[in-house]
Amino acid sequence: QQAEIGLIGLGVMGSNLALNIAENGYRVAVWNRTTERTSRFVETAGALADMIVPCETLEDLVAAIRPPRPIILMVQAGAAVDEQIAALRPLLSADDILIDAGNANFRDTMRRFSELDGSSLTFIGMGVSGGEEGARHGPSIMVGGTRASWLRVKAVLTAISAKYQDAPCVAWLGTDGAGHFVKTIHNGIEYADMQMIAEIYGMLRDGARLDTDAMARLFERWNGGRLESYLIEITAKVLTEADPATGRPMVDVIVDSAGQKGTGRWAVIEAQMMGVPATAIEAAVAARGLSALMAERGAAEALYGTPTKGFERAEGRNAIDDLELALFAGKIAAYAQGFAVMEAASKEFDWGLPMATIARIWRAGCIIRSQFLDTIAEAFEDGDVANLLAAPRFVDLMKESVPALRRTVARAALAGIPVPALSAALAYFDAYRAARGTANLIQAQRDFFGAHGFERIDASGAHHGPWGG
Ligand code: 6PG
Repeated sequence: QQAEIGLIGLGVMGSNLALNIAENGYRVAVWNRTTERTSRFVETAGALADMIVPCETLEDLVAAIRPPRPIILMVQAGAAVDEQIAALRPLLSADDILIDAGNANFRDTMRRFSELDGSSLTFIGMGVSGGEEGARHGPSIMVGGTRASWLRVKAVLTAISAKYQDAPCVAWLGTDGAGHFVKTIHNGIEYADMQMIAEIYGMLRDGARLDTDAMARLFERWNGGRLESYLIEITAKVLTEADPATGRPMVDVIVDSAGQKGTGRWAVIEAQMMGVPATAIEAAVAARGLSALMAERGAAEALYGTPTKGFERAEGRNAIDDLELALFAGKIAAYAQGFAVMEAASKEFDWGLPMATIARIWRAGCIIRSQFLDTIAEAFEDGDVANLLAAPRFVDLMKESVPALRRTVARAALAGIPVPALSAALAYFDAYRAARGTANLIQAQRDFFGAHGFERIDASGAHHGPWGG
């Protein structure tokens, strides 16, 4: 019996996705660059092995799948995808569908679309979120490609996707790079979420001087409220864990230098390219960069002294009371930025990104899944919004939570605790809701040194100042 779908690349994500496909009743043919991994994969597949067709060569793989063949590529983003496409092309026939499910840069995806244009092959760029667990039991899936190609793979993708209250967390978001673009913004928001949580942890550790168990209890409690989300949930779990080797809290023995594979940075680069302010996300990416400067940070601490002495007891209590709402306000600002970047890209690339749907398919399966996404979906369903900060549902939430964010950022500044993403979120809010900012001065300076001209508040057209007579 022929397989209904193929999958290339049996790394962590690929093998879990293959098991997920098999479990949902689809016979899946698999191939990996090293055959040994393929054999090991089938050996460990247990009862699902019956639904898996291991292949030793790409020719075998293609022969094992019933045409027209959908083939998922789950290989490392970048050159490996191009190599894989090049190797497959001569083997495939009309109407076969290649689905790149890696964390591709959407610009690469766009290029691959144009390179395959005119061939009879169909390409889909698909963002998959949820890590190992998601891949195995239901990820959130963001699809980009033609509508016709989506309809051909809709059934299997729906089957393997996460479900939220029975609704599948998969959707066709637009043509060519739309799926990978949305995944990139998902990751930018993921970076901001994680960074802001880490900043709150910094306030608790270095300001309020709580131990990790007390912190864990706080995060656990917050997870029962408006902050309810996967990242808050795992933060509480992480903070409870002890190091088996030393008995110390696990977080205390982990080096404070964060890795990054590039998707967060891409989100920021794209935001900059489109001129959309995404400062909280930028701050989160920059904070990872700064975290990597271990030796320099050590040397600078020796020069300037330890930054914080922590809060006085009462101040510590006040600080803790504010953190839940502060984080919530920061989160709203960061998501407003992420969605604004998607709005701009949607126009620029003519995707017609369905914002409410995006929020809904992030509701389960993905790393940023949270209750808060329901409110975002509702805000977009209420009607057109240029920015979530201007959406009626968010105005009251911001009014309620911004004071706590303001106090938190102020306390952090006075105590010398870095909260770059929360600060950026607050500054964004303050600048966004100011009808008259300070760019008039910048315009004056530009005109002064470069005769760039400016608009007047009381007359149309370009004007120049009387600088220096
Ligand atoms: C997801 C994640 C995932 C990403 C990791 C690591 O949605 O499942 O975004 O795709 O690869 O989170 O990303 P960094 O190494 O850049 O932190």
